[in-house]
Amino acid sequence: MPDIRLAEATGAPPRSPRRHLLSISDLTRGDIERILDTARALASSLDRDVKKLPTLRGRTVINLFYESSTRTLSSFELAAKRLSADTMSLRSSGSSVDKGESLKDTALTLAAYDPDVIVIRHPSIGAPQLVARLTGAHVVNAGDGKHQHPTQALLDLFTMREAFDRLDGLHVAIVGDVLHSRVARSLLEALALVGARTTLVGPPTLMPREIEALGCAVSFDIDAIRDADVVYALRMQSERMEAGAAFVPSLREYASRWGITPERVRPGQIVMHPGPMNRGVEIDPRVADSDAARITTQVRSGLVVRMAVLYDLLTTGPAAVPTAIETRPPLEVA
Ligand code: NCD
Repeated sequence: MPDIRLAEATGAPPRSPRRHLLSISDLTRGDIERILDTARALASSLDRDVKKLPTLRGRTVINLFYESSTRTLSSFELAAKRLSADTMSLRSSGSSVDKGESLKDTALTLAAYDPDVIVIRHPSIGAPQLVARLTGAHVVNAGDGKHQHPTQALLDLFTMREAFDRLDGLHVAIVGDVLHSRVARSLLEALALVGARTTLVGPPTLMPREIEALGCAVSFDIDAIRDADVVYALRMQSERMEAGAAFVPSLREYASRWGITPERVRPGQIVMHPGPMNRGVEIDPRVADSDAARITTQVRSGLVVRMAVLYDLLTTGPAAVPTAIETRPPLEVA
């Protein structure tokens, strides 16, 4: 369990050294376990009538989203609010981005408010790194192109750990459009870090070449999902497919060959999906609505895991800062 004292918080915590969550490779196994343990402790606060904790009072979290989002944006916003931080969300449409303002100028504008955290989602790989260079904020990557989406991987690990009570030795089949998926890339790295086994399953046209080098197995046969504890369906990322390129013959054929149908799920397995789902394409509605599905559980996990990430970035120093533990503010969850 993390170092959490069940006491009254006494005001804004001292500033911690600036750290970012740009990629799963920023984390060690210990970091992941600490964040998941903090999220577990925070989950109990969600069952109370009064859900707000005073932990990040006086802190500012800005969400800067250049791509559409329902779950990620709402959960970051709510996570900051539940920890009593001030938060605001800026979407590219309706802001000066519509008028041609560059990411650099938007980032410099927001930096003038001296926010503690900037959470950014952007279609270009590396946009979060740019914001980290230009501003003094802790930066969290909420998805950059098809590169990384680290908090999604953390919330998925949390969901799996809650379901099976372990991650070490768990077998996860990630199914579908791996080629365009930042979720798959982040998740398979995170699974390797915590000692779980991954098999990527899908058509060769949607499988990145030499992805096995990341330490996972690859199968072009949907029956390979039978061996897994977790069946993780990916959304077909049509918006990232170059126009005219035929990655699958048709969505109908894709659904019949690779869709997660009731016949393909065996008892004891859980089924996950990051959302938004294309019901009837990568996942059969009967599976999405079944007891095996953990899709709304993932959304709930997203809230506590993002609370834990904000808490961790703003209050925990890296191991190199020996006073970090003593300077962490108490987290009142009782
Ligand atoms: C994912 C994303 O945007 O990368 N969704 C999410 O964050 N919940 C996956 C997707 O869009 O397919």
